[in-house]
Amino acid sequence: MALSASPYTLHHADCLSLMSSMPDASVDAIITDPPYFRVKSDAWDRQWRTADAFAVWMGQVLDQCARILKPNGSLYLFASPAMAARVELLIAERLQVLNQIVWAKPTGRHMGTCRASQRRFFPQTERILFAEHYGADSTAEDAAGYKAQCAALRRTVFEPLRRYLDDERKRAGWRCSEIDAAWREWRGTPNSQGGMATHWFSRSQWALPTPEAYAWLQQLFRSRLSYALPGMAGSLGKDYVALQDDYQCLKAQYDTLKQQYQALRRPFAMDKVAPHTDVWHFPVVQPYPGKHPCEKPLPLMRHIMACSTSPGHVVLDPFLGSGSTGIAALEAGCRFVGIEQDAAIHAQAAKRLADFVGG
Ligand SMILES: C[S@@+](CC[C@H](N)C(=O)[O-])C[C@H]1O[C@@H](n2cnc3c(N)ncnc32)[C@H](O)[C@@H]1O
Repeated sequence: MALSASPYTLHHADCLSLMSSMPDASVDAIITDPPYFRVKSDAWDRQWRTADAFAVWMGQVLDQCARILKPNGSLYLFASPAMAARVELLIAERLQVLNQIVWAKPTGRHMGTCRASQRRFFPQTERILFAEHYGADSTAEDAAGYKAQCAALRRTVFEPLRRYLDDERKRAGWRCSEIDAAWREWRGTPNSQGGMATHWFSRSQWALPTPEAYAWLQQLFRSRLSYALPGMAGSLGKDYVALQDDYQCLKAQYDTLKQQYQALRRPFAMDKVAPHTDVWHFPVVQPYPGKHPCEKPLPLMRHIMACSTSPGHVVLDPFLGSGSTGIAALEAGCRFVGIEQDAAIHAQAAKRLADFVGG
């Protein structure tokens, strides 16, 4: 299935048959809200006579999801509180469930219930099951040996600089522990935990001294050299600008390789204000003429996109409904594929996305 030049493609089709024509590992994220099973009066939520029949069908949908999701892809699947446990088990047979997110709605039908007639707690939430492929991180780490290469590179890339500092230290006759103690003394923190010299001279966790620390080391080394070895030229002769140039050059090599590794991992990022736990509070969409009965709020969909997609990613929603997933995906700079079996709903979503893209 080739992607068109448009940033999105909508299909009026049954998602099971459409997804079966999609190639393996072809989408970066599947973000979708399937029928919940007999929660709504609409025909699309009453296609199955029993919960077991619904579960069999859901298993077939998840088979396709697992097949077409890339190795570092994310699945977000909405479920009702009543069916979430069962759907979670179905997902776990195919993918690793990372969270069962609780979407708590501040307003809704729970506000108008008659408490006296309740025989159990009224559900005020929906669930969002978040999953990835089993072993996704290790797949990314192992691919092309990037993780091992990064570690080896970190050890070797900075070695010329580390060796330069360490050779100069030896030549000046200073032990690391002496340098640590002298540094703490000079900083006015003689009793603090030491260890900085380990970072400047040893292979593990090597770090470049700051300009201030380098100037201090130059003085320290030269004091003992001129005392112990009269006539010998100075120590740490390289000026700091040259040292830093070398460092930046080596760091650029290291960062490039690390980025290649990062790109293989499942994206996951959060800003400081967005919900960072598995309980989300987003208001429901207020009723308006022609509203889809299950339209999901854009702020919630944007939160998912921001956490789990990157610009250019392909996002699939096999149960398109009003198209909220599509709007949020396009806003995030992703390409979008939507599938909807109901002609009228498909047409309405198509108009919404066209209006969004058009202007
Ligand atoms: C819960 S609604 C999705 C609502 C959507 N998240 C939104 O924000 O508007 C589920 C949608 O899936 C559609 N649907 C149900 N079975 C389907 C199938 N087998 N293939 C494609 N679409 C289907 C229904 O017509 C309905 O519009």
